[in-house]
Amino acid sequence: MINIAVFCSGNGSNLQAILDAARDGLIPCRVKLMVCDNPGAYAIKRAEDSGIPRLIVNRKDFPSREAMEERIASEVDEKNIKLICLAGYMRLLSGRFVERYAGRIINVHPALLPAFKGKSAIRDAFESGVNISGVTVHFVTEAVDSGPVILQEAVVIEKSDTIETLTEKIHKVEHRLYPQAIKLFCQNKT
Ligand code: GRF
Repeated sequence: MINIAVFCSGNGSNLQAILDAARDGLIPCRVKLMVCDNPGAYAIKRAEDSGIPRLIVNRKDFPSREAMEERIASEVDEKNIKLICLAGYMRLLSGRFVERYAGRIINVHPALLPAFKGKSAIRDAFESGVNISGVTVHFVTEAVDSGPVILQEAVVIEKSDTIETLTEKIHKVEHRLYPQAIKLFCQNKT
């Protein structure tokens, strides 16, 4: 069993999917740490309800990004974390941080990378008129939304879809695909 950390900034529905999968024995790991950079995030409540350790960091409380990342890294190291899962973590990690945990940080993105990188991927895909988008789980490198892909799954955009129904479909796939990718990592199969 390896220890993993989940980094969040918002709702935390992917955190929830990971917590549930770990609790149900579907992924061979323990969620040992939740890191959140937004003190108002609902993800914090989810972590509290599951009783996992939380580190809430506010950028304003640190003199620099490096100082904030140093605080996070000390917690990650102290808890012997082998894998960091970004789940809606909206802050860019420095090259230094990514290097420190090279090959041990993964992310879920709501589109079929390399298409529709960036923060509004679902909307961008919807507005572009493509009829297929999807979900990607990938390793994190310094360049945003660009690291090696672990798993991808397509989601068909129907004529009847709205941005809301598409968002719902994508999230549903994320909640299944992300735990699967974590499982592959735990089994050394990535
Ligand atoms: C997800 O759509 C994920 O793909 C993206 O941010 C969103 C986070 O949602 N990176 P949640 O906080 O897990 O509910």
